Amino acid sequence: MVVPGRQDKEEKIFYPPEDLQTNAHVPNFNSYLALYKRSIEEPEEFWRDVAQEFYWTEPPSGPVLQFNFDVTKGNINMKFMAGAKTNVCYNVLDRNVLDRDLGEKVAYYWEGNSPGHHQTITYTDLLKQVCRCANGLKQMGVQKGDRVAIYLPMIPELVVTMLACARIGAVHSTVFAGFSSDSLAERIVDAQCSVLVTADGVYRGEKLINLKQISDKALENCQEKGPLTVQKCVVVKHHGFKTGGTNERQRLQTPWNTQRDVWWHNMVDSESEHCDPEWLDAEDPLFILYTSGSTGKPKGVLHTVAGYLLYTYLTFRYVFDHHHDDVYWCTADIGWITGHSYIAYGPLANGATSVLFEGIPVYPHVCRYWEIIEKYGVSKFYTAPTAIRLLMKHGREPLQKYDLSSLRVLGTVGEPISPEAWLWYHDAVGQGRCPVVDTFWQTETGGHVLTPLPAATPLKPGSATLPFFGVEPCILNENGEELQGEAEGYLVFQKPWPGIMRGIYGNQERFENTYFKKFPGFYVTGDGCRRDKDGYYWITGRIDDMLNVSGHLLSTAEVEGALADHEAVAEAAVVGRPHALKGECLYCFVTLKDSREFTNVLVGELKSRVREKIGPIATPDFIQNAPSLPKTRSGKIMRRVLRQIARNDEDLGDLSTLADPKVVDVLFSQRCEAAA
Ligand code: WT7
Repeated sequence: MVVPGRQDKEEKIFYPPEDLQTNAHVPNFNSYLALYKRSIEEPEEFWRDVAQEFYWTEPPSGPVLQFNFDVTKGNINMKFMAGAKTNVCYNVLDRNVLDRDLGEKVAYYWEGNSPGHHQTITYTDLLKQVCRCANGLKQMGVQKGDRVAIYLPMIPELVVTMLACARIGAVHSTVFAGFSSDSLAERIVDAQCSVLVTADGVYRGEKLINLKQISDKALENCQEKGPLTVQKCVVVKHHGFKTGGTNERQRLQTPWNTQRDVWWHNMVDSESEHCDPEWLDAEDPLFILYTSGSTGKPKGVLHTVAGYLLYTYLTFRYVFDHHHDDVYWCTADIGWITGHSYIAYGPLANGATSVLFEGIPVYPHVCRYWEIIEKYGVSKFYTAPTAIRLLMKHGREPLQKYDLSSLRVLGTVGEPISPEAWLWYHDAVGQGRCPVVDTFWQTETGGHVLTPLPAATPLKPGSATLPFFGVEPCILNENGEELQGEAEGYLVFQKPWPGIMRGIYGNQERFENTYFKKFPGFYVTGDGCRRDKDGYYWITGRIDDMLNVSGHLLSTAEVEGALADHEAVAEAAVVGRPHALKGECLYCFVTLKDSREFTNVLVGELKSRVREKIGPIATPDFIQNAPSLPKTRSGKIMRRVLRQIARNDEDLGDLSTLADPKVVDVLFSQRCEAAA
């Protein structure tokens, strides 16, 4: 790695602003290099130092880091500080209140969907609420190791429930509240959850979502699949509010099962504000979070206690250059890993003040983000390229009405960001003064793995730049050979860092097959990557059958399954097509059964089938009738050809392996121009 030269003509490089460097934790490129070198050459010492920031009741019983990444040498495993005892909730709450005098500091400014709704929660408030919830869960019989499903909107109770689980050693499985009842059911069944925590309802923009009804449907659905593991369903009165709510709110039917359902306030109100933490092993599970899998069935990514805590703590501290007086805002939903790591655990481990936002960027108006930044004096702001593209569409004018001078660092995550969107973010939002940290990572990596540090790393728009501490990226070619210097190929990692996943819940075989089989000795990300002459990494996108819609991974197989579920459909194939706001959108080819006709009504039915099965984010933009699909002689669908049809790219190249090349002309003649 070298500092990219200022003389470089073909690309524009952005150097860290000097005022940021004055007080930064990593104040220049050389200090990044020195720390990086230490993290690679002396990982034990490096992470032992980080561990000193936290409270342990026992030290590790063996080496700090142990692992096997080579399937040919036995089971894949990685352990970090095994034998050490601690509790994540104690470290992110009690320690801040008791040892760091942060009890009165604001942990969250909660900002509701409607601008009038807001609430301030200090570290002391949060600790008390967490203890009450933890005691309530214990009363219900939840014990160490039990799984608790959480299906909540972006409200404080979501963080409270997660931390309450962490306090008593229960394993939370948070399901994004935009997922359908089928998706929720599938996740509950897979993790065999004993409790479900949900809410009556929530407004997302102007749309009212009846979460309790969806939850009930999910539980019914679970019952169809086998004996119901969920004993209790806890319901936060959020839409109705405990005190009755306001008049203009739409009435909501909240179905109730008196044996099973418990109001949240009835669970917590009589409980004590004290709850002794359960001291857990460093490698005990902390949570499961599901992510799409290329075979269709979502994978329960498992993270454990100590490694995840230390890694989210350190990445948050360095990547956002966190300081005591910062107000930090990550716009993600906690139902995704970004929210777990960088709204819940990472910021709290640092004693940070965060904004917790329930709403959407364009409600009630397109200036909502800028209004919130001004209102709370946000200094560090973290969002996704899809949101940037949406806001960019409205131009610079909305920004000019607000005071954004508090901003210091801007972050992006979720998909490759185009240089154009990067520059708009940097110039229009950051007014040219704020470094943009493009953070590459995955549900599986637990935290950032390729990322700039704002006061240290010269930036190139569109590049996630360089590895974080402890991370050693490699690029392999198709034969699994490691490429040096300037290169393009598969992005893989040869060694674990503390925050990497420990497995797929209940399925070691799938874990090894998905991430470690293709190139023995390496963790395979599934992303393509290019390294330039300065050693900078550029993510080129997924190289498997996954699509990235608005920063969320979707599996083509899962959507195909949902389409094929309709009785009119004989076969379906789904590919990605570029989309101005979403990045990629779904373009579906469906072959109907003989007697069926392709009509607008059917298209509508197919779309709602996918929404019901997966959720609104998976709604197809295009559905095309495909009398037959392009297949090889051995019967394999040629997705490359379908992708080209979807994009109207007629430069098809070699079609000699196709069983019937005429199929392609038919599909081209019937392609969808505009979204269905
Ligand atoms: C996939 C992981 C990690 C939080 C959000 C998504 C893509 C993520 C970037 C980035 C280019 C990115 C990759 C990755 N991705 N961040 N900065 N630049 N691509 O988590 O759902 O597990 O998705 O998102 O393709 O593999 P996820």
